Amino acid sequence: MPRDILLEWVADAEGLIVNNSVAVNEELLQNAPRLKVIAQMAVGYDNVDIEACSKYNIPFGNTPGVLVDATADLAFSLLLCSARRIHEGWDFVRANSWALGHKLSFGIDIAGKTLGIVGMGQIGAAVAQRAKAFGMNVIYYNRNRRHDDDKIGVAYQSFENLLDKSDAIIVLTPLSQETRGLFGREEFRKMKSTAYFINVSRGPVVNTDALVEALQSGEIAYAALDVTDPEPVAQDHPLLKLSNILITPHIGSATVETRTAMAQITVDNLLAGLADRPLAACVNASRIIGKSEKSL
Ligand code: GLV
Ligand code: GLV
Repeated sequence: MPRDILLEWVADAEGLIVNNSVAVNEELLQNAPRLKVIAQMAVGYDNVDIEACSKYNIPFGNTPGVLVDATADLAFSLLLCSARRIHEGWDFVRANSWALGHKLSFGIDIAGKTLGIVGMGQIGAAVAQRAKAFGMNVIYYNRNRRHDDDKIGVAYQSFENLLDKSDAIIVLTPLSQETRGLFGREEFRKMKSTAYFINVSRGPVVNTDALVEALQSGEIAYAALDVTDPEPVAQDHPLLKLSNILITPHIGSATVETRTAMAQITVDNLLAGLADRPLAACVNASRIIGKSEKSL
């Protein structure tokens, strides 16, 4: 929906369902005097000014929990798919070049390799579980060290050490002021020249120009991205000219079961907000005046 139409229509709205491509900010909230609730069909909410929602006393709901396995599957699939050149092989076959399959560059084994996970929340832990089942050593970096990392079987490292030691890096950190541009020239330089870089979080966590350069110069081996900056990525963008890359169009949670569960939570959140009940999954529950503090 074009922004000007959204701003016009929201003037009468009591409830609003959005996804993470809509900027929920002061401008939108000022235009929405009757708004009682915002329900977002996504877990990440970097598109939202939570302070402003709280200021206007509007509960903001998201969809945590239900997309953990789907997103972890996609992240790990991107690693397997690029490590084994599955997409390149399929392109070959479809171009009637089966017999030339030996011209495909070799992939790599992942068993015995070290996977570095940046952002060890629920999705990170689910990726770690998959990686361990495939025989990988798993290290991680997170803003806060997890007290249960022994139990999950992952070893905490400084960010620098993780860059240095990882054969593959999977990025799952939310986008925030601290993580915007977290991966730039310096960081790619510190990685192994054989490293695989996988981003399933948000495009702006990575400096795109620096990534393109690192892939062109061989500073790292391969990238697989489910998110890009900009997003969507235009047909003539340098990212699409690279041969050592795989890109999917932000489909981390796109399964029948997961999108159904996300839709249900979104509608439940919306109806709860309209009825002045606490939302099942509320980001700013404790900041809403006169409403229950409870959230799942
Ligand atoms: C998708 O990117 C989400 O945050 O749910
Ligand atoms: C990121 O969203 C995570 O759960 O690690």
